[in-house]
Amino acid sequence: MCGIIAYVGKQNSAPILLEGLKKLEYRGYDSAGISVCNRENIITVKSAGKVEELENKLGKRKISGTIGIAHTRWATHGKPNDINSHPHADCQENIHLVHNGIIENYQELKKFLQKKKHKFKSETDSEVLAHLIEEFGKNLGFKDAVLEALKMIRGTYGLAIISKKEQGKMLVARNGSPLVIGVGDGECVIASDVSALICHTDKVIYLEDGEVAEIDKDGYSITNIKNKKVNKEISKLTWNIEKSQKGGFPHFMLKEIFEQPEAIRNCLRGRIDKFLKDENFPVLGGLKPVEKKLRKINKIIIVACGTSYYSGLVGKYMFEEYAGISTEVEYASEFRYRKSVLCGRTAVIAISQSGETADTLAAIREAKSRGALTLGIVNVVGSSISRETDGGSYTLSGPEIGVASTKAFTSQITVLALWTMMFGRQRKMTFSATEKIAKELKKIPEMVEKIVKNNKDIKKIAKKYMTAENFLYMGRKYNYPIAMEGALKIKEISYIHAEGYPSGEMKHGPIALIDEDFPSIFICPKDSVYEKNISGIQEIKARGGKIIAVATEGDKNMKKIADDVIYIPKTLEMLTPMLAVVPLQMFAYYFGVLKGFNVDQPRNLAKSVTVE
Ligand code: G6P
Repeated sequence: MCGIIAYVGKQNSAPILLEGLKKLEYRGYDSAGISVCNRENIITVKSAGKVEELENKLGKRKISGTIGIAHTRWATHGKPNDINSHPHADCQENIHLVHNGIIENYQELKKFLQKKKHKFKSETDSEVLAHLIEEFGKNLGFKDAVLEALKMIRGTYGLAIISKKEQGKMLVARNGSPLVIGVGDGECVIASDVSALICHTDKVIYLEDGEVAEIDKDGYSITNIKNKKVNKEISKLTWNIEKSQKGGFPHFMLKEIFEQPEAIRNCLRGRIDKFLKDENFPVLGGLKPVEKKLRKINKIIIVACGTSYYSGLVGKYMFEEYAGISTEVEYASEFRYRKSVLCGRTAVIAISQSGETADTLAAIREAKSRGALTLGIVNVVGSSISRETDGGSYTLSGPEIGVASTKAFTSQITVLALWTMMFGRQRKMTFSATEKIAKELKKIPEMVEKIVKNNKDIKKIAKKYMTAENFLYMGRKYNYPIAMEGALKIKEISYIHAEGYPSGEMKHGPIALIDEDFPSIFICPKDSVYEKNISGIQEIKARGGKIIAVATEGDKNMKKIADDVIYIPKTLEMLTPMLAVVPLQMFAYYFGVLKGFNVDQPRNLAKSVTVE
């Protein structure tokens, strides 16, 4: 999704901005552009396609200037072409801006401005804002004109704006689209995402909705939209540059699959050892402030999108089985517009890697406004969802750069297991039952290590099925969500049609698709529904379908039934999803790589979906 990087300081800004744009590439985009204050002028260069194409267009042109803004665009209004790329400018080309988000009333505003003789170049909603600032700028200074324009906007924005008339100054503003100010020595780097600025500084200020910062070479001042001063704290980043680079792997996705044992260990660190000693609760600092309220909840609604939604489904099975709390899982995009039944005893849990997904954030705001307790399971520290929920836990899996989520998913399930222990202990769950989960959780990283080491065999299986154009993924109970996630992964990375199904539903439709060219992937560990799954596999075999099975180590019988078997270690039924998903991530990865696709930035997808 769109990315912003901007610079104010003493250095030449263009190389810093280009480097920042490259760091934002992982978010998914289709065009890029840059504007730099250059003596009396502002020079803009824009290009459809990759940042490399923008660099080529810039060629040997030496644009020097110590203030600049840049953007990667993911088209929402108007095609991905040079003209629609950001930065956008007003009629006189005084105001230049980059914008993340959507201006919902842009058509209304455009009509109003057209009546006042403004001429538009692009089809975007963002350009309207540049003209609106120009309009107010007829009677007001730069900042006041921006504030007046913002008051007229309905929608979301992360903005960085420069003006030819007041060179040396940049205005940045946020409403619904993340924006972070990196504070360096005599310079500020502004970005929509910390990964673009960690190479410059580890001191950051997270702008909140409705805040506007005025930045120049001497520093920054932050106000609200009514120009009232706001005092902000500087936070220290705990991520480093090394962590956000590939570390010897060919792709971020593979690196992140291999990082899962470490990510799960990080997520568990300090959270269960004390519990095992004092027989009390797992240590979850972010839930402390709401501990009493949590004892009273009798309903949970989990809201999430994409991969995070599927971890939520695993959470539902855990919460209901062990804590006895009725749990629903809803796509955040549905929840936000639906009138679901909420009350003071309902907790709404948002699960999100980025903590910025627009629908999930909106769902949490909706739940809050209706009196529910809101909680977050989030990876990115300081992100909007983490700040706006009443309590929560970080997944602590480190930066996830590959667009298709992998390590964030297994870490989310880790947190859900910890929360199950917490909610269970608050109710009727015995210490020994909880202890069993804790002890097994501690073994999971080693088990995942064993699976990822099996990567060559999984690659061979992917190669064998390269001609398949469809896959059916099936699992039951705890592994039904894993069937869904496996199918999502191969869709995202390999552009292969795949369907995920609860295996019990197979006979109600999907089995009609089966023939020798339509393979099925069956998640069939030795659990409480093993026999049921075996029947399903036999039914597919009887119809000539090929089977790849994910089975428990030692299940020799499976070798006789399935065409190919990937083994995972034995663990508690509720934790099998954390193991079963790993070979499916690798299968999708190798499938995509063998097909020659860009697995880290699949077509049409974005890492952080900050618009509806
Ligand atoms: C996008 C990403 C997915 C991710 C989903 C939810 O679609 O491509 O990988 O699962 O957003 O993102 P979140 O950051 O809220 O987990």
